[in-house]
Amino acid sequence: MAASFATLHVLFLVWFLPATFSLSFFFFKAESISNVSCYEKDKQALLTLKRGLTDHEHVLSSWSDRKDCCIWDGVLCDKKTGRVSELHLNYSSLGGEISGSLLQLEHLNYLDLSTNDFNCTPIPTFLGSMYSLTYLDLHWANFCGLIPHQLGNLSSLRDLSLGDNSDLYVDNLRWMSGLSAIQYLDLRSSDLHKEVDWLQIMSNIPPSIFNLEKLEYLSLYINKLTEQIPEALGQLKHLTYLDLGYNSFNGPIPSSLGNLSRIRTLFLNQNQLNGTIPKSLGLLSKLETLYIGQNPFTCIIDEGHFRKLSKLKILYMSEAPLSFNVNSNWVPPFQLDYAYMSSTKIGPNFPSWLQSQRSLSFLDMSMSGISGKAPGWFWNWTSNVSVINFSNNHIECDVSDIFLSSTVKVLNIANNSFYGPISTFLCQKKIRKNKLAVLDVSNNLLSGELSPCWKYWQSLIHLNLGSNNLVGRIPYSMGALVNLQSLCLQNNSIYGDMPLSLKKCSNLELIDMGDNHLSIIPLWIGEMTNLKVLRLRSSEFKGYIPQQICQLSSLRVLDLANNSLSGSIPNCLKNISAMALPYSYDRSLSYMSFFYSYVYVSYVENVQLAPKGKEMEYKENLNLVRLIDLSSNNLSGSIPAEISDLSVLRFLNLSRNHLMGMIPEKIGNMKELESIDLSRNHLSGKIPPSMSNLTFLGLLDLSYNNLSGRIPSSTQLQSFDAVKYIGNPQLCGDPLPKNCTIEEQSLNRSPIGSVEDDSKNSSFYIGMGVGFSTGFWAICGALFFNRTWRHAYFRFANEITDWIYVTTMIKMNLLKS
Ligand SMILES: *[C@@H]1O[C@H](CO)[C@@H](O)[C@H](O)[C@H]1NC(C)=O
Ligand SMILES: *[C@@H]1O[C@H](CO)[C@@H](O)[C@H](O)[C@H]1NC(C)=O
Ligand SMILES: *[C@@H]1O[C@H](CO)[C@@H](O)[C@H](O)[C@H]1NC(C)=O
Ligand SMILES: *[C@@H]1O[C@H](CO)[C@@H](O)[C@H](O)[C@H]1NC(C)=O
Ligand SMILES: *[C@@H]1O[C@H](CO)[C@@H](O)[C@H](O)[C@H]1NC(C)=O
Ligand SMILES: *[C@@H]1O[C@H](CO)[C@@H](O)[C@H](O)[C@H]1NC(C)=O
Ligand SMILES: *[C@@H]1O[C@H](CO)[C@@H](O)[C@H](O)[C@H]1NC(C)=O
Ligand SMILES: *[C@@H]1O[C@H](CO)[C@@H](O)[C@H](O)[C@H]1NC(C)=O
Ligand SMILES: *[C@@H]1O[C@H](CO)[C@@H](O)[C@H](O)[C@H]1NC(C)=O
Ligand SMILES: *[C@@H]1O[C@H](CO)[C@@H](O)[C@H](O)[C@H]1NC(C)=O
Ligand SMILES: *[C@@H]1O[C@H](CO)[C@@H](O)[C@H](O)[C@H]1NC(C)=O
Ligand SMILES: *[C@@H]1O[C@H](CO)[C@@H](O)[C@H](O)[C@H]1NC(C)=O
Repeated sequence: MAASFATLHVLFLVWFLPATFSLSFFFFKAESISNVSCYEKDKQALLTLKRGLTDHEHVLSSWSDRKDCCIWDGVLCDKKTGRVSELHLNYSSLGGEISGSLLQLEHLNYLDLSTNDFNCTPIPTFLGSMYSLTYLDLHWANFCGLIPHQLGNLSSLRDLSLGDNSDLYVDNLRWMSGLSAIQYLDLRSSDLHKEVDWLQIMSNIPPSIFNLEKLEYLSLYINKLTEQIPEALGQLKHLTYLDLGYNSFNGPIPSSLGNLSRIRTLFLNQNQLNGTIPKSLGLLSKLETLYIGQNPFTCIIDEGHFRKLSKLKILYMSEAPLSFNVNSNWVPPFQLDYAYMSSTKIGPNFPSWLQSQRSLSFLDMSMSGISGKAPGWFWNWTSNVSVINFSNNHIECDVSDIFLSSTVKVLNIANNSFYGPISTFLCQKKIRKNKLAVLDVSNNLLSGELSPCWKYWQSLIHLNLGSNNLVGRIPYSMGALVNLQSLCLQNNSIYGDMPLSLKKCSNLELIDMGDNHLSIIPLWIGEMTNLKVLRLRSSEFKGYIPQQICQLSSLRVLDLANNSLSGSIPNCLKNISAMALPYSYDRSLSYMSFFYSYVYVSYVENVQLAPKGKEMEYKENLNLVRLIDLSSNNLSGSIPAEISDLSVLRFLNLSRNHLMGMIPEKIGNMKELESIDLSRNHLSGKIPPSMSNLTFLGLLDLSYNNLSGRIPSSTQLQSFDAVKYIGNPQLCGDPLPKNCTIEEQSLNRSPIGSVEDDSKNSSFYIGMGVGFSTGFWAICGALFFNRTWRHAYFRFANEITDWIYVTTMIKMNLLKS
């Protein structure tokens, strides 16, 4: 599972629109129906249909026997005959059983049952006998199982949408031969892998088998298709929309695709395409949207590939290791709106063709090997841009040269060589009108003190100035950043207090001030009730951990490691409910926190944590982390027993302090724990037997304490190396070499039965590994692999249609019909 996760786990940008691209934009109202009255047989059929359906939101309340059925909501009648001709039941709340009474509606040509929830039942086979249908939309309706062959009897059908259902599959596609009128075919996220070669079949068996020549719209997105993209696709000359994204096609893009002269939208992203990209693609003069990113292409792409693409607006090439090799004086035929070119090889020279792009609003050229100075025209050219992502290049630029028009919302220039005093950048007159929401200049060479000019930057939501050469105190004026949700100043030489004015930044969810020279943890921190991540690691903090920290009920990450904190661990930690309460249903939703969405882009926070002793970067996974790291301080006293109430904590590190007393007896209640490090303290007494209940434990370190007695036996506890227990002279039993019998006799206690030698069984070691990875990936895994959850997730996404998000499962749908 972890491996499949890794392949899916490639982030990219999503402009999420509801998945409805239906050709009909007919907006109908009940009142618009003329005064023909309803045909009684149709009315009875509809009443029967209603009885079978569940309708919690009473969207069918107008369907009453006393009213003319032609004025019921969602029902449209033929003006002349009074027969029901259209049913628009895409209400998002219907479920239950679809009655066969629909068959009575002999004149029905339009049936839309999409965006409902039919609870993973099969598509009714009788739909295949509704011969008058020209439009059938069942997308996003939670149908499961085999797509019935009977649908192939619908010879008048022009539009068939079965996409985005939870678990639909086909066993063959021969039935499709009957769909002789089909123009629009949406099978996205169905499982076609049993029919992998169906496209080849189409080309080899006479064409009459698949009368798909009229096809204009074909979506085979997420269909588990493998092998190569068939040449024969080039024969579907009427195609205007082709989506083969999120499959496993390999090899080249066939040059026959250059024959699709009407195509406007072409998705080939997220496959295993590794061959050549034909120059014939450059002939597609109607093409507006081209997605070829997220493929292992290693070929070169040049001017020829774009020769006639004068209509191109959206180019998605990110995450394809292509070389983008064009002349420095190239003037492209297109005017792009969106250029997604992350990790494409563009450099080392700055791409001068950008200068010709007058309507560009989104530019991602991160990780693209650009080095040297940014040309003079560049910052002025940004006049119409919203998002600039030049992170992870080698661009050298004096920050005082940066100009930001008020259109720019996101500027990410992290990990380059921008230099100069940060105050000249923040205070310069020409950018005082900026509307920046995201500023990430981490990992550059900025110097000097944080300026007092923050009042000009009040639209900031995310600010990352980490890993520069900043010095001095945090200025009081930073309190002006009242919209701030994350403030990252880590790894600089900032000293002194966190000023009281920061209290005004009450939207802060993430504070990272690690690796600086700060002083004490302020008491007002308890008032920052939106805080989810507090990282004050390695920053020379002294004094106590304030009890106020327990007021941070949303806190998931508390990292105060490697400071000089003294006193005891607050005994109120159980008030931090984000670590104490199960997050059940919220799991799928919380997947999205720390993804922040802006106009065309999402910003993902990134924090260095050391959940298992070693620092690593957390980005997409950050919201899955529940961590307390207080290691390497001077904490004393005992571990508060109520720490065991933190039932969803995953990582606990209290090592290298002066803690005394016993390990809390109920530590076994912390069922989600993956890692506990209590080493190098003065803990005494026995290891609590409840510890054997920690089935996800992948790391345990109890070494160098004064623990005594027998190590409880469990699948996990014996699987750790003996070094994790050493330095406790009175501890005995497997995996330590010391025999407990002697130990227990000397302690004058009766033995607790015979030593179980189970741990030698290798299956226990395997069990441990599985337990661990299962635990760690359980949440993300579930989102991707549990289809019901995925459905719920899609559904949720659908409800916030004006959002733009990052996910791994949805992709950019940019159709403007
Ligand atoms: C429909 O009813 C209106 C009056 O309510 C009448 O004026 C009109 O002629 C009728 N139309 C038809 C087609 O019967
Ligand atoms: C149903 O679909 C039609 C056509 O796509 C659309 O105009 C309408 O808004 C949808 N109705 C609902 C309730 O979503
Ligand atoms: C409808 O389709 C099924 C399965 O494809 C087929 O067996 C049946 O003969 C068809 N019925 C008619 C009336 O065409
Ligand atoms: C389709 O494309 C192929 C390869 O580019 C070409 O050989 C063939 O002539 C084209 N067919 C038509 C009908 O244009
Ligand atoms: C592309 O991938 C396939 C399958 O992994 C492999 O057989 C083939 O050799 C690769 N082709 C190139 C040009 O790398
Ligand atoms: C600049 O952007 C705005 C809004 O995004 C757009 O309406 C306008 O046409 C763009 N200007 C140019 C020159 O493309
Ligand atoms: C950029 O614009 C600023 C202000 O409009 C102007 O002063 C400067 O000369 C311009 N620089 C270039 C290289 O065009
Ligand atoms: C910075 O960018 C370079 C490539 O320019 C990359 O190799 C390195 O991993 C990046 N470092 C960080 C911390 O992202
Ligand atoms: C901290 O910043 C320095 C340069 O200022 C950099 O070399 C180092 O890699 C950074 N450390 C981390 C953990 O990012
Ligand atoms: C910018 O590019 C980096 C590296 O590809 C990526 O991690 C980040 O999400 C992108 N977007 C923004 C808004 O920073
Ligand atoms: C382990 O958990 C089970 C069920 O939650 C409980 O009944 C049992 O007492 C626990 N064992 C120990 C040693 O705490
Ligand atoms: C432990 O000691 C007892 C009695 O001295 C002995 O019977 C047993 O074999 C020993 N076990 C191990 C693992 O050495």
